[in-house]
Amino acid sequence: MIKRSQTEVIGIASGKGGVGKTTVAVNLAIALRLMGYRVMLFDADLGLANAQIVLGCQCPYNLSHFLSGKKKLEEIIVTSRQGLLLVPGASGLQEMASLSRVQTARIVQAFSAMEQDLDFLIVDMAAGIAPSVLTFMAACQRRFIVARDDPSSIADAYGTIKVLSEEYHLDELYLVPNAVKSQLEGQRLFKRINKVCAQFLNRSIQYVGSIENDELILAAHKKFEPVMEYAPGSGGARDFRRLAEASSQLPPIAQPSGGLEFFVERLLRVRT
Ligand SMILES: Nc1ncnc2c1ncn2[C@@H]1O[C@H](COP(=O)(O)OP(=O)(O)O)[C@@H](O)[C@H]1O
Ligand SMILES: [Mg+2]
Repeated sequence: MIKRSQTEVIGIASGKGGVGKTTVAVNLAIALRLMGYRVMLFDADLGLANAQIVLGCQCPYNLSHFLSGKKKLEEIIVTSRQGLLLVPGASGLQEMASLSRVQTARIVQAFSAMEQDLDFLIVDMAAGIAPSVLTFMAACQRRFIVARDDPSSIADAYGTIKVLSEEYHLDELYLVPNAVKSQLEGQRLFKRINKVCAQFLNRSIQYVGSIENDELILAAHKKFEPVMEYAPGSGGARDFRRLAEASSQLPPIAQPSGGLEFFVERLLRVRT
């Protein structure tokens, strides 16, 4: 079992819905798990939680039970058959937009009370850029922005990067081109978006790898299975293994941000 000295927290956002956030979050989490890491997946959606559906996982309780005070965070967590610890999101409860600052902070802080040793926490965000989504993104150490090569997805990815960097002053922004024709096309998409960021935001973003368009990802989705499990030999699964490899090689961030942050105590513990 590989162990990291601290928990790496990666938030997955896109702005627009339907771009592939959940697909990337779930399959990246499984690929990291297959590398031997201890991985938790947090479905940070209160409106249309679907990580559990993509994982094919039954969850008796979810975030709504935590928010209403009926359950502790530990009590809603389930272990998926792929060996992931899943914090299930809620469906039809409320819009992320209506999640208050206090509720958001309560959720982030509840993670700190957990005993589990974890190597990675992957946070699958709700669509949009509601304040609660941005607060969750700010509470992560790294941010992966999923984008497809289409004008509205590119505009939304750029909009998300703009608000994260200009209003929240966040760095550690990485682009994950999804459903692209090839790795080369993904790199081209990254370069295009990065150029616009350099020109208009005076900042650059980073690249961690692309996921190709693969009909087996969609076929897996229809069977309520992640592609890593449904078709491990597929191009999609290969890309997720590469993404996990690249993600695991990023240098650890030992410096607390100073704001609301997942597992901030663990960061401080490492430093002392
Ligand atoms: N690389 C890909 N190739 C083919 N289909 C994909 C790919 N990534 C995602 N999809 C499909 O696109 C749809 C939306 O993906 P999803 O992960 O639910 O998006 P989001 O979480 O951003 O709303 C799903 O049906 C999923 O199977
Ligand atoms: Mg989703």
